[in-house]
Amino acid sequence: MTTWNLTGTEHHVLICNGSSCMRKGGEEVTQAVRDEIASLGIDSKIHTTRTRCNGRCKDACVVIVYPQGAWLNGMTPERGREMVRKLAEDELKCLQPFTTYEFRRGAMAPVDNNVTFAGISKT
Ligand code: FES
Repeated sequence: MTTWNLTGTEHHVLICNGSSCMRKGGEEVTQAVRDEIASLGIDSKIHTTRTRCNGRCKDACVVIVYPQGAWLNGMTPERGREMVRKLAEDELKCLQPFTTYEFRRGAMAPVDNNVTFAGISKT
């Protein structure tokens, strides 16, 4: 078991490792994201976590970035590496074409970019 000191962490990246995302390259995305973080020497700034299904399987492979609350769809190893480089520069806006939802004014909101699949209502 590992207990990381998270002091100074600027971003938490959740990489979906649920079955749908794993069929769409989740392991390769995970390795690419972690490799790019290590290559840039920014392990103390970006923390990654593998997750189980995040409930957005049609968006596989899903990656979620906090504190922005950005949910990214269709992630590939190349997009994962690009995401890390943009996070290092605080330019996540450049990934907007792949963002389905983001946290705005206290709630998740869809991003208007033609890639958002509405999904099933929880109510
Ligand atoms: S398996 Fe990734 S969102 Fe369902």
